[in-house]
Amino acid sequence: MLKIAVFASGRGSNFQSIIDNIKSGDIPAEIKLLISDRQDAGALKRAEHEGIEHLFIDPDHFETKADYEEELIGLLENDGVELVVLAGYMRILSPLFVKHFQNQIINIHPSLLPAFKGLDSQKQAVDYGVKYSGCTVHFVDQGMDTGPIIKQAVVEVKAEDSADDLAARILKEEHKIYPEAVKLIAEGRIKIEGRKVKILKEEK
Ligand code: GRF
Repeated sequence: MLKIAVFASGRGSNFQSIIDNIKSGDIPAEIKLLISDRQDAGALKRAEHEGIEHLFIDPDHFETKADYEEELIGLLENDGVELVVLAGYMRILSPLFVKHFQNQIINIHPSLLPAFKGLDSQKQAVDYGVKYSGCTVHFVDQGMDTGPIIKQAVVEVKAEDSADDLAARILKEEHKIYPEAVKLIAEGRIKIEGRKVKILKEEK
């Protein structure tokens, strides 16, 4: 069983999709811990409801970002966490943290990377006028939204779409590909070669 920690700042619908796929027996993993940097995060309530250990760690209580991240690292190490899943976690992890968990942190981003990095990707896509957008699950490296890509899903952008319409359509795909990516990692079927992620065949 792969030991997972999830970091989330908001409503936690991606967190929930991973919980549901673990509960159904689809992913051989265990969520040891949910950490949020926001006390009002819906993700904390979901964890409570599911009986998953959850902590609100207030970054403002630490003198430096390094102190805050050291606290996080200590918690993860205590639980023997092997994979950190960022699910709407609105902070950028420092190179120190990323190095510590090299190739062990994944993120979901609501665009087809490398297009529309950063915040408000769905609005960026609508404003740009692209006909297709989507979502990307990727490993986290020291850049912003730049790490090796594990999975992507394509979503059509309709002429009358608002950013919210598009976000809702993309979110449905996020809830499919994020659990799929976690499953691949839990099954040991991912190999990183430079920028490229190879998916090994399922053992029969
Ligand atoms: C998602 O759109 C995800 O792509 C982005 O943040 C949002 C989180 O939503 N990184 P939720 O908290 O999982 O519902």
